[in-house]
Amino acid sequence: MSFHPMPFALDTARLRLRLWEETDAAGYRALVGERGGDTPTLEDATEEIREARASAPGRGIHLLTLHRNGEDDFLGYCGLIIGRSTVEEPELAYELLRSAHGQGYATEAAAAVVDAARATGRRRLWSTVGAWNTPSFRVLQKVGFRRDHVTSAENGEVVWCVLDL
Ligand SMILES: CC(C)(COP(=O)(O)OP(=O)(O)OC[C@H]1O[C@@H](n2cnc3c(N)ncnc32)[C@H](O)[C@@H]1OP(=O)(O)O)[C@@H](O)C(=O)NCCC(=O)NCCS
Repeated sequence: MSFHPMPFALDTARLRLRLWEETDAAGYRALVGERGGDTPTLEDATEEIREARASAPGRGIHLLTLHRNGEDDFLGYCGLIIGRSTVEEPELAYELLRSAHGQGYATEAAAAVVDAARATGRRRLWSTVGAWNTPSFRVLQKVGFRRDHVTSAENGEVVWCVLDL
């Protein structure tokens, strides 16, 4: 089955979602740093972004960076990935810098990505969430996902949430 490609940029009331640019490398490092593990060097982060941009045209689905309208500050990312699923029924994924939490940005971005996924012709999206992640479940619930089933991973239970488009 073939799908229309997802756009490289999406606009919402407050946000612009767009393809990664090299200027996002510092923000990306900060985001990874907030996870508490190793942070990539600026050079490695920049190279990762270059590779993501180079492969974007052939991919059809994207993780896009989030910015407030008219500003270039990196807030995080939101988009579609294969993740634990498939290209036909990809996963919705998002992660925001702590300083951007609690303002409805993840929900606003996720709703735009859901609309974009529907416009590609896809019928179903998944999202896999750690059982502890209440804010993430709330975002998914607000954009229409429901809990489907649970699997176990090395670091605990993973809840599979589904949205029939
Ligand atoms: C999950 C995440 C993206 C949410 O971003 P956000 O922009 O703050 O989300 P929103 O503001 O759109 O919505 C968050 C909702 O969760 C609620 N919430 C937040 N913390 C909560 C808590 N501890 N208990 C209950 N509800 C909570 C908020 O009140 C809000 O719901 P509401 O609109 O009904 O009030 C952000 O917390 C994040 O980046 N976390 C780390 C990465 C991550 O977990 N990614 C998802 C992996 S599946």
